[in-house]
Amino acid sequence: MLTPELQARLAAPLTLGPFKIHSRVFQSPLSGVTDLVFRRLVRRYAPTSMLYTEMVSATEIHHLRNLPQMMRVDPHEQPISIQLFDCRPDFMGEAARKAVAEGADTIDINMGCPVNKITKRGGGSSLLRQPEVAEAIVKAVVAAVDVPVTVKTRLGWDDDEITIVEFAQRLAGAGAQMLTIHGRTRQQGYTGAARWDWIGRVKQAVTIPVIANGDIFSVDAAVDCLTQTGADGVMCSRGTLGYPFLVGEIDHFLKTGERLPEPSVVTRLTWAKEHLIGLWDYKGQRGIYQARKHLAWYCKGFVGAGVWRDRLAQIETVEGGLALLEEAIATTIDPR
Ligand SMILES: Cc1cc2nc3c(=O)[nH]c(=O)nc-3n(C[C@H](O)[C@H](O)[C@H](O)COP(=O)(O)O)c2cc1C
Repeated sequence: MLTPELQARLAAPLTLGPFKIHSRVFQSPLSGVTDLVFRRLVRRYAPTSMLYTEMVSATEIHHLRNLPQMMRVDPHEQPISIQLFDCRPDFMGEAARKAVAEGADTIDINMGCPVNKITKRGGGSSLLRQPEVAEAIVKAVVAAVDVPVTVKTRLGWDDDEITIVEFAQRLAGAGAQMLTIHGRTRQQGYTGAARWDWIGRVKQAVTIPVIANGDIFSVDAAVDCLTQTGADGVMCSRGTLGYPFLVGEIDHFLKTGERLPEPSVVTRLTWAKEHLIGLWDYKGQRGIYQARKHLAWYCKGFVGAGVWRDRLAQIETVEGGLALLEEAIATTIDPR
């Protein structure tokens, strides 16, 4: 329940030094998802929320002549954070400077990614097992840029190594100005329930803002999580796949106590069309292949959605995708 106490606690902007964020609801970095096209859709409903790029490798940035497309931000999409990962403090500092030149309001460091390809090279969640390196990375990035530096991480490596409380204190001591805690271990991946109780313990242990992440799939989940953890905000992730409305819906509820009406099937499929056109314009044929999964995600909660999902997951052209979506709009029955 959104109590007056909770609403009052969250009413003030979040302050990271001189930088202010006017929303307590964040859109997480999602590799393969939170590109410029997706973020533009999220932004319509969530004008003041912090959005994140996909994670970008500092080693890649070091070796490339031009910035990777994943790092590109719109001139007017603030507040925006560019998320970086790596195990080399020097590369991270260099990448952070380039990210700020591109327009990043904050630099977020990924210390949570569980994917083997990343952890084997010493990045992502493997830093939970190398706290000295994690600390050195934060210090290098803080020294390199004059925007806030934040970290997104997990509870620990596995159930026998839940190290987040000491880890969080160490990162804060190194100069991190905000932490996002995904309430799962590396070993859990994305399975099992997020353990918000641990996020509450981190909140008690540090003085910098703590953002809770994991299983925020609805307005009610966000309110429960904020109440249980005492966190300063929530970050939405898988709940936004095919549903770029979620961050704005939660933000609106926390600010006003009113629920926005759920978007109709037609609205969702119309946004899917825009998403497809955006990906085609921005990435060409690669964008069409990337659009397949997005379009399938938009098809949920109506009669025959499964059939549309299968058909949309095979599109080859923008015209083919648009024709299917138009047919779906013309023929589906909204169950509400
Ligand atoms: C497809 C996908 C891509 C992800 N990419 C990133 C990423 O680039 N950076 C990051 O910090 N976390 C990434 N994550 C983790 C999410 O941001 C989030 O921490 C996790 O999904 C837990 O939240 P949820 O239970 O609400 O989904 C990714 C997760 C998924 C499912």
